[in-house]
Amino acid sequence: MNKNKKHASDLTLDEKISLLSGNNVWHTKEIKKIGLKALTLRDGPHGVRDGEPAIAYPNLCLAACSWDRQILYKLGQYLGDDAKEHGIDVLLAPGVNIKRTPTAGRNFEYFSEDPLLTGELAAEFVKGIQSRGVAACVKHFVCNDRENKRFSYNVTVDEKTLREIYLKPFEIVIKKAKPKCIMSAYNFVNGQFACQNHMLYDVLRNEFLFSGTVMSDWGGTDKRKNFYNAGGNLEMPGSDEKTHDDVKLAVLNGELSEDKINESAEKIIELADFCSCSAKPKIAKDIASLAAESFVLLENNGILPIGKDEKIALTGDALQASVFCGGGCANVSGKGANTLLSELSQYFCNADFVEKPSEKLNSYNAVIVFLREKESSEGFDRKDLSVDCSLLKQVALYNKNIITVLINGSVILLNQVKQYSAAVIESYYAGQALGKALPLALTGAVVPSGRLAETFLSKESDSYAYGEEDDEDIFYAERTSVGYRYYAEKAIKTQYAFGYGLSYSRFTYCDFYADKSFLDEGTEGVNVYVTLKNDGVFDAKEVVQIYLHTDGKNGDPIVKLVAFDKVFVKKGQILKTKLFIAASEFMRYDVKKQKYVFYGGKVKLSVNSDAQSVLLTTDITLKPYLKADRYTTVGEIINKQNGAELVVKHLKKAIIGCIIGDDDNYPFSVKNGHIAGEEFFSRVAESLQLRQLVSMSNNKLSEQELDQIIAILNEE
Ligand code: GLC
Repeated sequence: MNKNKKHASDLTLDEKISLLSGNNVWHTKEIKKIGLKALTLRDGPHGVRDGEPAIAYPNLCLAACSWDRQILYKLGQYLGDDAKEHGIDVLLAPGVNIKRTPTAGRNFEYFSEDPLLTGELAAEFVKGIQSRGVAACVKHFVCNDRENKRFSYNVTVDEKTLREIYLKPFEIVIKKAKPKCIMSAYNFVNGQFACQNHMLYDVLRNEFLFSGTVMSDWGGTDKRKNFYNAGGNLEMPGSDEKTHDDVKLAVLNGELSEDKINESAEKIIELADFCSCSAKPKIAKDIASLAAESFVLLENNGILPIGKDEKIALTGDALQASVFCGGGCANVSGKGANTLLSELSQYFCNADFVEKPSEKLNSYNAVIVFLREKESSEGFDRKDLSVDCSLLKQVALYNKNIITVLINGSVILLNQVKQYSAAVIESYYAGQALGKALPLALTGAVVPSGRLAETFLSKESDSYAYGEEDDEDIFYAERTSVGYRYYAEKAIKTQYAFGYGLSYSRFTYCDFYADKSFLDEGTEGVNVYVTLKNDGVFDAKEVVQIYLHTDGKNGDPIVKLVAFDKVFVKKGQILKTKLFIAASEFMRYDVKKQKYVFYGGKVKLSVNSDAQSVLLTTDITLKPYLKADRYTTVGEIINKQNGAELVVKHLKKAIIGCIIGDDDNYPFSVKNGHIAGEEFFSRVAESLQLRQLVSMSNNKLSEQELDQIIAILNEE
């Protein structure tokens, strides 16, 4: 053991217990005896929030629309550098909760309604932060998917849904980015506080193999001993002065093992070790381009791009603001930020600010109208999805060439915006970058290539979450059909689909194929190829989106994103792209088997321009190797290769014994994948699990004989 390295074993029980609770709101305890410094923990995902001026970056609701792993990595680096500069050891970001509820207050600081897009982009963001020697803290583990009553609501969610949707982003980030910390959520999951839910920790520690520090959300623990017992390590902001003895008593009376205390102390010491590295030379920042590339062009009748010298009018109260960010712990003050109006006026030399629409407006080539939804915040959900369009309607009385720029944290109803606008740009919350990024996008200096990472509804009541806003017990009845998956399943017409976004260029796709026509459990995954042509007059980036289509049975989604990539295509260029789809994307969680298994059979892959718009398709057959066990049904065996012969040869007597009794002459055969004979016999026989051939066959089979048959079935 490295004698200079600090260890929990160098500490007394009292010192260890006190270390597992914050020293104050933003710091852990210092323990001079082993040279352990106090760690500084600070928010947040959009910039440093420590009372000092700090750059307000594009919020994750916008950055996620880039669908660009490199952009998220760079953004993470920028934040990591700023955190290091502010002396921060752990940056409390990113949030990877799912945008299940369109009105959820913190959607602005989350990535998407889709777990794969969330996980992949968050992994890059975490890698970026940690590459600068700052620990990231992925939050909120798990199902903190809305704000109303967040300290007390319970989510009732089935295990398959929990794993395939809500745990999946954490699984991806842990496996791809190895975050140093995870923050548990305030809410209950299936009747237990998330912060002390043993099933969640079992998955986190023993399946995802997360070995880092789990900290509570601020004030999120109930009893410290239960938090540590379940697998939590650091209680924040800390209550040790009042609760130290309770924890110590729990250890002394055996309620809480000292091993848990030692493990937790060790993790905090390791965390401090990681954070002790010195700052690296700062990364050069290009925030404006990053934001401009992420903007989503929702409508454009050809008015965009505009020239730098065009005579334009600017209107909307946002012009007097300088930072656009949601509320709560992810809010950032900004540093050196100018008002939106001053920055736009520097770029557009013929731009005028018009406070009140009047006839004057008809002398302008175009009018840029800024529409703001200002409610998105931690702590409460939005009352509805409305946005005030009165200014837009007034402007439309005098000038139809309206470019509407949306400033919002999450979904808003856009039917009217679309009706009155010649072009619509979704800029979400761009931090303090809007003034510099918007001109780049409006003039085509940077072609906006964002795609929506959440579905924009045409009416609020289309959401499965509509009406549950104040429930204490939320039942995730839509299961894995969250977001676009649900709207596809119910054939609900949405305003703008997940993955939707226009470009100044136009892309055509051809030659979509996979390098395998079938997948079995031995393979890592499949490569798919598709060729794009940029038919436009701009060099531009494009998001290639690959979706899987299943039969929608057993609570499976009928469509799901399984791969994506951002590619750059010069005007006129033809580009052949390759995307890898991991085998895990072709699997569903089988709760009985307690493992992921293939969807089974023939499935369709498609390349789409958005979740609802299929461009090309190809088929893949998933030949799951069915490893028989005592819970396998006769019907499943028949579906195996040579299954029919095996059933007749080894299982016939026992099956007849289960249903008919002793009758060696009972006719038994398998034809066209089914047991022949009258309906009742056939259906019951095929539904029998192998274990029942012992318990129900009237002594036709022993456990030992069943084991031998299973071995034979698996060697075939
Ligand atoms: C808050 C938030 C969490 C934040 C923490 C510290 O309640 O839920 O995201 O990092 O407390 O501000």
